[in-house]
Amino acid sequence: MEAELALAQSLKYAEELRTLYVRERDSRRAAEEALLELERACAATVRALAAALELRDDATGAHAERVTAVALRLALKVAPELAAEPQLEHAFLLHDIGKIGIPDSILLKPGPLTPQERRTMEQHPLLGERIVARVPGLGEQIGQVVVAHHEHWDGSGYPQRLAGEAIPLAARIFAVADAFDAMTSDRPYRAALGVEHALAEIGRCAGTQFDPGVVEALVSVGGELRRAAA
Ligand SMILES: [Fe+2]
Repeated sequence: MEAELALAQSLKYAEELRTLYVRERDSRRAAEEALLELERACAATVRALAAALELRDDATGAHAERVTAVALRLALKVAPELAAEPQLEHAFLLHDIGKIGIPDSILLKPGPLTPQERRTMEQHPLLGERIVARVPGLGEQIGQVVVAHHEHWDGSGYPQRLAGEAIPLAARIFAVADAFDAMTSDRPYRAALGVEHALAEIGRCAGTQFDPGVVEALVSVGGELRRAAA
C-alpha cells in the first residue's frame, strides 16, 4: 500500500514538473521571439534613419548602404571576430549621424569652406557620438565608429588627432571603405574613378591617412569590388 502511495506521489510530482517545464519553455520562447522582433524593429529604424540622413546631402541616399557593404566585407577580411558583432553594421550605417547638427549653409555649401565653417563641420563626429550615447541599446562600438571615422593613421585627422592603433579598428576599416566609395561614386565636380584607379589612390595613402593592414585587405578583395562595380 505504501509503495502504491509513493508511486502515486512520484507520478504527481513528475506531472507537476512537466507542467512547470512546459510553462517555462513557452515563456522563454515568447521572450526570445519578442527580443527578435525588437532587434528587427531596431535594425529597420537604424536603416530608415541612415537613409533619411543621407537625403540631406546626397540626392541618391545610397552612400550609407554602399559604404556599409564595402566596410563589412573589409571587416570580414581584417578581423572576422569584429565582423561577427551585430552592432558593426549599425555603426557603419550611422557614421555621419552628427551631420544632423550641422547647418545647411555649411553642409550644402557648394564652394570651399572658410576655416571657421570647416571647424564647425569637423564637429560632426563629436555631435554624433553624443547623439548615439543617448540612445539605449546602440552600444559603445557605434560611438567609436561615429567619433573616429575621420581620424588618420598618422594622427593628422579629426576631431581628436588619434593615431595608429589608438583609432578603434572598426573606424580604421570604415575610413578606407568611405574613401573607396567616395572615389568610385560620381560627384558633381567629377565622374567616378574606376576601381583600379581608386585602389591605387588609396594605396598611396597607406601608412599616412589609412591603416596599411586595412588597405592591404582592400586590395586583396579588389576582384570582388571590381565585379560589384561592373
Ligand atoms: Fe563624416
